[in-house]
Amino acid sequence: RMRRAVALWLLTVATLLRVSLQGPHQRFLLRELLRDYNPMERPVANDSQTLTVQFSFTLMQVMDVDEKNQILTTNAWLQMQWYDHYLQWNQSEYPGVKNLRFTPDQVWTPDILLYNSAHDKFDATFKTNVLVNSSGFCEYLPPGIFVSTCSVDVRWFPFDIQRCELKFGSWTFDGWLLDIQMKEADVSGYMPNGEWDLLEVPGGRHEVFYDCCAEPYPDVTFVVTLRRRTLFYALNLLIPCVLLSSMTLLVFLLPANSGEKISLGITVLLSLTVFMLMVAEIMPATSDSVPLIGQYFASTMVIVGMSVVATVIVLQFHHHNPNSGHIPRWVNLVLLQWVPWFLRMKRPGEGVEPTLSSSQADSQSAVGDTPIHHHLPASKFGSPPLEPPVCPEPDPPTSGPCGSEVGVGRSAGVYSNSGTARSVAVDNQLQALLAEVQYLVERVREQDRQLSLAEQWQFAAAVIDRLCLVGFSVFNIICTIAILMAAPNFGEALSKDFL
Ligand SMILES: *[C@@H]1O[C@H](CO)[C@@H](O)[C@H](O)[C@H]1NC(C)=O
Ligand SMILES: *[C@@H]1O[C@H](CO)[C@@H](O)[C@H](O)[C@H]1NC(C)=O
Ligand SMILES: *[C@@H]1O[C@H](CO)[C@@H](O)[C@H](O)[C@H]1NC(C)=O
Repeated sequence: RMRRAVALWLLTVATLLRVSLQGPHQRFLLRELLRDYNPMERPVANDSQTLTVQFSFTLMQVMDVDEKNQILTTNAWLQMQWYDHYLQWNQSEYPGVKNLRFTPDQVWTPDILLYNSAHDKFDATFKTNVLVNSSGFCEYLPPGIFVSTCSVDVRWFPFDIQRCELKFGSWTFDGWLLDIQMKEADVSGYMPNGEWDLLEVPGGRHEVFYDCCAEPYPDVTFVVTLRRRTLFYALNLLIPCVLLSSMTLLVFLLPANSGEKISLGITVLLSLTVFMLMVAEIMPATSDSVPLIGQYFASTMVIVGMSVVATVIVLQFHHHNPNSGHIPRWVNLVLLQWVPWFLRMKRPGEGVEPTLSSSQADSQSAVGDTPIHHHLPASKFGSPPLEPPVCPEPDPPTSGPCGSEVGVGRSAGVYSNSGTARSVAVDNQLQALLAEVQYLVERVREQDRQLSLAEQWQFAAAVIDRLCLVGFSVFNIICTIAILMAAPNFGEALSKDFL
């Protein structure tokens, strides 16, 4: 009986001891694994073996594309997987310990870095733990805010697509010691960006051979491909620019008399300059390529500048001094005949002149010439005229009605001895009067001539205005279409951002 009790007790103690031995498996395992583990040691069974690291890239967010400093900022997780020969254990010997976590200092980790990093500490990853399972499979997922250089090409701004490379590779191991293999990039957790659409993140593994050495130097490069969303820039830059450049056309519609033509042109020019400065602020200060929008602004500014020059010419024509002589032949030919015909412009009163104005003038002169002479004597003297009135001629002194027409109230009886002297005096008076009248007529004719000359200059100015209106409209439309359509992905941007 006693024996049985002792045996039972021994059994219980043994069981308890066994349990207490098997409890902290993880601690024993860790102690076991790290007892003579050296994190400097490449964890392969045979030193001539290659350690393969599977590498992948999980893009979480595109934080910024800095065109000016040529920098891309992304939030991403790296993924590295490899087999560590020294971190294996028999799972049935350590029940319940499926995997272990080590800090990156405790175990060997590949020194894979972003080659084109622009971070001030160069390696921007956060050192997370390395997860190891019993077959020695290590998984290391360091997240990080990666700041990388990227040659941002703003040639087609704002219809541009940017391809930013992220090149990863081992900093010290060559391809024979550490073979980096690529797994496709993961964008399932990507957070959309307001400014950029993520198109794709293709990756590729490259091997570089240097002259010095036979071994390859592999790297894995992911290309973050982004398309700029155009709506913002269209709303804030393109539409104002198109509006301003069409404003230029209004300069040619404004009448020259208003005196506002030049101020309108200059105002448009100044507002364009403001927008151009805004564009220049965004763009990198490079002369490699002129951005599309810069080209568009520049050409619009050239159009506006030329329209200001054209307006000055128009005003010069409009206010041309009519005393400075005749209209030059070429002006007459080109601006008063060819171009108006081409533009289907009519001179003021040109269309109506033959039917109304000239016939009226004819009839007026016909009325003014004959009937007045016929009518006047009849009304004034009550007797019908016996002879044709030849009053202005000095010869016939005996023509009574005419003499009394000049010297009013004189009777015929005064003509006696001093008749000839009087007639000479009357003659002189008539001559003076005639000269006066001729002078006045000459003045009126001269004024008419000047008026018509001024009208012709003004018409020439109007013709130039119309010509510029047509020319600049065509130029404007061609420029807008040619420049904006030149962008390779204009159609795509249009269909995705606007429709
Ligand atoms: C290591 O591998 C090479 C070739 O794979 C072999 O020749 C060598 O014997 C191996 N060394 C050991 C210690 O197993
Ligand atoms: C693991 O341990 C168990 C029990 O100790 C043993 O039977 C088995 O063979 C071991 N497996 C390996 C792969 O060593
Ligand atoms: C360890 O993880 C790798 C990869 O997931 C897997 O292939 C392997 O079977 C795992 N080992 C054990 C013992 O679970």
